[in-house]
Amino acid sequence: MLQFFTGNTGLHHVHHLSARIPNYNLQRAHDENPIFHDVPTLSVWDGVRAVRLKLWDEDRGRLVTLRGGAAAGPVAVQAMADRDDLEFTYSLIDRIFRLSLGELADFSAAKYDGDFSLSLEEAQRRKHEYVAEQIGIGPRWRVLDLGCGWGPLLDFVRRRGGTGVGVTLSSAQAAACRRHGLDVHLHDARAVTRQSFGPFDAVANVGAFEHFCSVEEHRAGRQDEIYSGLFARVASLLPKEAGSTCRRWCSGPT
Ligand SMILES: C[S@@+](CC[C@H](N)C(=O)[O-])C[C@H]1O[C@@H](n2cnc3c(N)ncnc32)[C@H](O)[C@@H]1O
Repeated sequence: MLQFFTGNTGLHHVHHLSARIPNYNLQRAHDENPIFHDVPTLSVWDGVRAVRLKLWDEDRGRLVTLRGGAAAGPVAVQAMADRDDLEFTYSLIDRIFRLSLGELADFSAAKYDGDFSLSLEEAQRRKHEYVAEQIGIGPRWRVLDLGCGWGPLLDFVRRRGGTGVGVTLSSAQAAACRRHGLDVHLHDARAVTRQSFGPFDAVANVGAFEHFCSVEEHRAGRQDEIYSGLFARVASLLPKEAGSTCRRWCSGPT
């Protein structure tokens, strides 16, 4: 009776294998094909109860409720994304981000300063103006962008008459930037040296700072060593005059 009134909706999956089977033959097709015989059958009640299932438990290989997930213990903090993860993630989303946010996709913070009448683009331009104020981006300045993404800051530097150089760990981002005439390298930001890239007038980093020290490295108490090493390398890229490192290195959150 239920089957009749629901138009055989419980056998709808058979349609996915062959859309040409008429509705009144779905049951026969189901019964005659062994592929369907050991799949679990869900009752209406199973469907109602499934609404409570919110989390995928990888260890048990099944969906669980929020309470069931909590009972299984605290969620382990995932190891930080490594070079391969960054390459995979940013290269996988490359096309969709450029299609949705524009070729020079800016996907880090925006600076509203409480004025939410601003559009996202205006607030992101304010962010770049803020970075420019902090480090003095101007004509003929050579600026390094650590973790440059799809190059929005490098494009801003170019429009101000400067020369931007970017590094990223995503080959798709590097390729997209190069297609737009930006000088971008597939290179680890923590390993940029004066020997390999030459000197810079300013160094910026927008939304990538947190990538430079992993959770594991932090737990091992290595954060000071890692960030001091990074600051020392950045300082070695900048002009030597006193105070230049603070004035010409700018970092911001995602
Ligand atoms: C959240 S995105 C920010 C991108 C860009 N700065 C923006 O504002 O749109 C982080 C970027 O940092 C890069 N990145 C992360 N760790 C890196 C590393 N060790 N060396 C170079 N780039 C890195 C990623 O490839 C990605 O392009």
